Amino acid sequence: MFYEPASRDKNVLPHDPLKAIVAPRPIGWISTVSSDGVANLSPYSFFNAVSSMPDMVMFSSAGWKDSVTNAKATREFVCNYVSEELAAAMNQSSVTAPSEIDEFSFAQLERADCRLVKAPRVAAAPAALECRVTKIVELDRADGTKGAYVMVIGEIVGVHIRDEFITPDGRFDAAKARPVTRMGYRDYGAPGEIFEMIRPPDWTG
Ligand SMILES: Cc1cc2nc3c(=O)[nH]c(=O)nc-3n(C[C@H](O)[C@H](O)[C@H](O)COP(=O)(O)O)c2cc1C
Repeated sequence: MFYEPASRDKNVLPHDPLKAIVAPRPIGWISTVSSDGVANLSPYSFFNAVSSMPDMVMFSSAGWKDSVTNAKATREFVCNYVSEELAAAMNQSSVTAPSEIDEFSFAQLERADCRLVKAPRVAAAPAALECRVTKIVELDRADGTKGAYVMVIGEIVGVHIRDEFITPDGRFDAAKARPVTRMGYRDYGAPGEIFEMIRPPDWTG
């Protein structure tokens, strides 16, 4: 099969397979605070790390959702780690609600203070990344016309890891933290097996 996204045959593929093909995707559980001081918490699976040294992440929103509006106003956001035990609360926090609704309260999540940014973080999350916005990009199509998404890129300025998720040899224990990932449609995944591979030595000719 081959199709062009704009003319997908909905009788054959009733739901867009893109997000099932580009999967699993990590979920950035983005907390922000509005200029009026209202906290916001929402999951974004158009999310990833895009740079190290400086460490950077991005999330991408279908239009100007509250997370983007708040990130633009405050130049800050926090990315909370979604572990399996937080999956239901993460889903709750995706509620479409007016901007005056604080999803920490709606999803009954305890919040913790950040060190360097004003937005709160999810206290139970195994890790959280405090970020300062570097760029907000309205995504264009290939022909230069305006697309629907807005991408927020941020530099990580602070990292929280709950001590119980640090192994004795000083690694983040992803096997214990059990990240929830997005698989497309209504599907989610969690890691089955984690295995190690050593990269080949540098080419010597
Ligand atoms: C697992 C999951 C991933 C999501 N990923 C995105 C995403 O990448 N971009 C987006 O615009 N919305 C995404 N959503 C929907 C938003 O979380 C939802 O619209 C939320 O209400 C946005 O809230 P806000 O306006 O307070 O930022 C996702 C929802 C779920 C449950």
